[in-house]
Amino acid sequence: MVLLDGKLISEQIKAEIKVEVESIVRRNGKVPHLAAVLVGDNPASEAYVRSKVRSCEQVGFKSTLIRRGADITEAELLEIVRQLNDDKEIDGFIVQLPLPKHIDEMKVTLAIDYRKDVDGFHPVNFGKMAQGMDTFLPATPYGIIEILERYKIQTAGKHCVVVGRSNIVGTPVSILMSRKGKDCTVTLTHSKTEDIASEIRRADIVIAAIGIPRFITADMVKPGAVVVDVGINRIEDAAAKNGNRLVGDVDFDHVAPKCSYITPVPGGIGLMTVTCLLLNTLKAASQE
Ligand code: GUN
Repeated sequence: MVLLDGKLISEQIKAEIKVEVESIVRRNGKVPHLAAVLVGDNPASEAYVRSKVRSCEQVGFKSTLIRRGADITEAELLEIVRQLNDDKEIDGFIVQLPLPKHIDEMKVTLAIDYRKDVDGFHPVNFGKMAQGMDTFLPATPYGIIEILERYKIQTAGKHCVVVGRSNIVGTPVSILMSRKGKDCTVTLTHSKTEDIASEIRRADIVIAAIGIPRFITADMVKPGAVVVDVGINRIEDAAAKNGNRLVGDVDFDHVAPKCSYITPVPGGIGLMTVTCLLLNTLKAASQE
């Protein structure tokens, strides 16, 4: 079994980005600039956004964090989006999800200028992605593709089973894995799938993005499979310093010995997601 090391690959990609930033700055003096909007005090969102800002610093990007309370109105948030769309200093920005229930996430996503949508969530970018056009890929699917490529994992003709159909991971990664270049035969499974275990058992490549701690157990995995774990679930653990720890959607300890390759949690796809957001920001800064 080989561990797909998201930390190692992220560091390699960040070193490549840093070189590129230095060259952009030498050419036109402009530093790529990412803005993030964080609404409310969801601890997971806080952690993600902190990591995004820290990663910007590592590669020499500028970053701006805009924080607002959970009581912000939809109109106020849309006004922030409008200002970021118009701000010539900002190359790309994200609005961290989830948003409070009184705000329509799709309305906010649609308000973002698709040329600055470094999350790749806007339907224009999603549509381009689905048609194989050059665009911002959603960061988590992008991170999955990138780590598979950098470990030279063969995908052509393989059966890929995606578990979970979210707009930001399951659905887009199922499209990307089926497209020319990746060439998998893809099964997209979800909460209504009958006998999900037998679907997963047929997989050469499993992509777990269902948000249920240790949902995928050893009996569901074919020997030699490649397992990509997107889950980041906080569970109670009396032995841990702060009483909890992170686990994925895969029962790592029992599944890992059966796999050819597997991503750990933490240290796998989570880090790749942040790094691929940086790649998208670099792309946004290189346009114009
Ligand atoms: N919430 C969970 N993942 C993401 C992400 O990649 N982007 C944004 N904006 N919100 C998220």
